[in-house]
Amino acid sequence: MSLANAPDPEVRKSIVKQDLGNVLHPIVQHKVLENRQMVVSHAQGSTVFDADGTSYLDAMAGLWCVNIGYGRVELADVAAEQLRQLAYFPHTAMNAPAAALAEKVNGLMGGGYHTYFVNSGSEANEAGFKIARQYMKHEYPGHYRYKTITRYFAYHGTTLATLDAGGMGERKGKFEPYSGDFVHVAPPHCYRCPFGLSYPSCGLACVKNMETTILGEGPDSVAEVLVEPIMSGIGVAVPPDEYLPEVEGLCRKYGILLHVDEVINGFGRTGKMFGHQHYGISPDVMAIAKGISSAYMPIAATMVKNSVFQSFYGEASENRQVGQVNTYGGHPVAAAVALRNIEIIEAERLADRSAEMGAYLLDGLRTLMRHEVVGDVRGKGLLLGVELVKDRTSKEPVGPEQIAATADFCRDKGLLVGRAGGRGYGNTITLSPPLVITRAECDQIVDTLDRALATLDLG
Ligand SMILES: Cc1ncc(COP(=O)(O)O)c(C=O)c1O
Repeated sequence: MSLANAPDPEVRKSIVKQDLGNVLHPIVQHKVLENRQMVVSHAQGSTVFDADGTSYLDAMAGLWCVNIGYGRVELADVAAEQLRQLAYFPHTAMNAPAAALAEKVNGLMGGGYHTYFVNSGSEANEAGFKIARQYMKHEYPGHYRYKTITRYFAYHGTTLATLDAGGMGERKGKFEPYSGDFVHVAPPHCYRCPFGLSYPSCGLACVKNMETTILGEGPDSVAEVLVEPIMSGIGVAVPPDEYLPEVEGLCRKYGILLHVDEVINGFGRTGKMFGHQHYGISPDVMAIAKGISSAYMPIAATMVKNSVFQSFYGEASENRQVGQVNTYGGHPVAAAVALRNIEIIEAERLADRSAEMGAYLLDGLRTLMRHEVVGDVRGKGLLLGVELVKDRTSKEPVGPEQIAATADFCRDKGLLVGRAGGRGYGNTITLSPPLVITRAECDQIVDTLDRALATLDLG
């Protein structure tokens, strides 16, 4: 059944009925879904279509992931061809697409990495934790280096360990208690500096806080520091330029691995192929997902520097091999699709385009500061946030009703935006559109938000 060409209200109704009777949806309240749903039927470029024929400019690229945009039919051909050739075999053996993809992402890092394949960003971070711990067991026999230093208000995934690694109380609360292996420090969020300071006179208090924590925990109990270069879940926070180099300095000083989460930042999202490349740091462990395939297939990976890889290399009798496995890791179809996706990102210079369009969109969003309710506009490349406050001086966030009203207004006008923000506020409108977004579409985003905020100002 194709709904692409001829919207049929009866077909849509039957899908809604089937869904409500059978599906358990993530993170949305079913009572809300009963009153209002999207039934996505097809998509092209940056636009998605409901089965009732309504079109939406998707300013979130799904869940921050459809980097090359929708409707790339050539990826269907790649998948079909690979399905005919070899649909699956466990990655204890080798297959051509996964080998080529590993070489491709290694090349994007300038060489020096090996790649372990998984299926989601959560798994990529989770595998990273385990690789860091196992590495420490190899390198420091008799010691117990297992902790991950991570930041409050970060998001790193949905499994118990990645949720624990994240620092979002409102998301974690329902599943407590956790293991306690993840130790949280203050994030580099200058608009809401946890120390009440201002950059640069703060002297990067957030890095000092991290060092104090490492010392307090005991460096020889710490395996790794986990950072998302530009934090997205907090409502998009771009750190000061020196922040990540100084964090890397701490890792080197105390013999701790630097684990970088590029799940959202990666594959052109921030205007470079990887977010950390803005800051000249060199991850020891790196999680990649989302943009690796632009979500055309579920695939993700944990990349490890060759110095880490070496620790897993030896005689079979030494039992140093990676101590984990997953059924679908290195899936040939997903790998083939991801490889072609990256080739498209490269051929169309989408990281450069992200920088250019991101700067254009950021300029447009800054004009929204004329609304009193806009406290801050920030971002890098096409990873952007517009934070809404009741009062610019106190920075008191707008309530959930107002942020919902803003997002709903946009949706009613055919624009899908996201919402995020640390400290449970969720008061930042987030934008992370496909990297193929046009100037006219950027103008549409600004114009629609402008109208949405005008109604809030009046309210
Ligand atoms: C920064 C970051 N890390 C990890 C994840 C987890 O990825 P997944 O949802 O594919 O498990 C996400 C998901 O949004 C993310 O934003």
